[in-house]
Amino acid sequence: MKTREELAAEQAAYWNGQGGQAWLAAFERIQRSIAGFSDDVLTAAAAKPGEKVLDVGCGTGETSEALARAVRDTGHVLGVDISEVLVSAARARTLANATFEVGDAATYGFETAAFDLLFSRFGVMFFAEPVQAFRNLRRALRPMGRLVFLCWRTPQENPWGLVPMRAAMPFLPPMERPGPEDPGQYSFGDRTRVERILTEAGFASPSFRPLDRTVPLGPDIPTVLDNIGKFGPIARAFANAEPAQIEKAKQAIGEALRPHATAEGVRLGGACWLVSAQPG
Ligand SMILES: C[S@@+](CC[C@H](N)C(=O)[O-])C[C@H]1O[C@@H](n2cnc3c(N)ncnc32)[C@H](O)[C@@H]1O
Repeated sequence: MKTREELAAEQAAYWNGQGGQAWLAAFERIQRSIAGFSDDVLTAAAAKPGEKVLDVGCGTGETSEALARAVRDTGHVLGVDISEVLVSAARARTLANATFEVGDAATYGFETAAFDLLFSRFGVMFFAEPVQAFRNLRRALRPMGRLVFLCWRTPQENPWGLVPMRAAMPFLPPMERPGPEDPGQYSFGDRTRVERILTEAGFASPSFRPLDRTVPLGPDIPTVLDNIGKFGPIARAFANAEPAQIEKAKQAIGEALRPHATAEGVRLGGACWLVSAQPG
């Protein structure tokens, strides 16, 4: 079993290496797939003119830009992300009222009680020690402030990810399964775990709104298959596979996706938690 330090180092290396590069390269496509969920979390966050906002794991800064528009020139957004390449992309937006810093949000020395809103779109599931990380974030929040973030529910509730993965697995080398307390894309799927983390970190009565939306994977199956190994768990599995294994896996994915190919593109269900909490 890996130690917490090893898991944290693995995440930092991933987002500063292949993971960050792949997220950046695939970002336009990812953005289209998550647009509905993204609107939901930005609406729920309801950033107001004059507010100070922290965008945790801000990536390329797309949500930071939306938040910066909402807080207007009297407010400010700080985007923090562990990935240098993604922070560079965020800085290239050159926003007058947003700044971006490279750092681990779990340990970053934020100003105490500085923010009205702690926000994140899919950026808080990768902490090796989530209670400590949320304690650090909690310290940065004003007494009347709020935490609002979006995370995926379980793989079983997310066929957009599960259907291709299940189809591919028999043809690929065995993959390491993350433990229930390990960081990763679906690590916040279990609501009771997230409740425990937030409560231990000093947040009060967190609320969980389930969001269910269709996730568009691409216009047609050949396009989806062209892109499927470029980011995420399937990319990791492909990285250790032979070309012939990848070919077979892609064929199987194509078959599995056929029932989900519609005139509007290849679309499967997706499920998120919209989590809100206040300081306790
Ligand atoms: C799935 S991406 C989401 C990016 C962005 N929030 C978005 O929605 O476009 C996860 C992000 O979390 C960042 N991240 C992972 N661990 C982090 C940490 N400990 N501190 C800060 N950022 C982290 C990654 O570098 C990556 O940009």
